[in-house]
Amino acid sequence: MDSKSGPISRRLFLALWPGDGVRWEIASRRDLLGTPGRPVPDHNLHLTLLFLGNCPAGALPVIREAAGDVRAGGFDLLLGAFGYFPRARVVWLGGEVPAAGRALVSDLSDAMRAAGIGFDRRRWQPHVTLFRKVSRRPALPAPPPLKWPVREFVLVESVPGKPYRVLKTWHLK
Ligand code: 2AM
Repeated sequence: MDSKSGPISRRLFLALWPGDGVRWEIASRRDLLGTPGRPVPDHNLHLTLLFLGNCPAGALPVIREAAGDVRAGGFDLLLGAFGYFPRARVVWLGGEVPAAGRALVSDLSDAMRAAGIGFDRRRWQPHVTLFRKVSRRPALPAPPPLKWPVREFVLVESVPGKPYRVLKTWHLK
């Protein structure tokens, strides 16, 4: 940390950020599973679209402008399955990959690439992480399906030990 200019780099990602109703629905599905690991607190539940990682603080205006140029439409996301990523050791709630969601991620990727912003290029697997530090796959029942009407996306900052912070919201057409 540079005491004069603030953090020299900021850990950023683009995400879907649930409103109160969907957040409550996600949390209630998390709570069906007991405690297989460290639960993600309600206020941090989100679905990552594009992980930008550590960005120079000066890149923020570039990221905001590039994301703001994306003209994608809203869509409904159906979250109907629990899953486990063994390498990341997380249990998640996820589901189908809607074409419009894939298109949004693709447009955001193109916009970041054109703006010279780096990002994690792994294929998008829509999921809301519910538990971290899960050492082995727990029994995962089928959750009640949840329809998430997606009408906006956000830029989020992750600061260790603090709740995620939404820096900017963009509405989808
Ligand atoms: P996860 O929930 O599956 O861990 C902030 O870290 C968000 O970015 C999390 O939702 C995390 O996914 C996601 N993310 C995607 N790629 C990441 C990476 N390479 N390192 C850390 N977080 C990543």
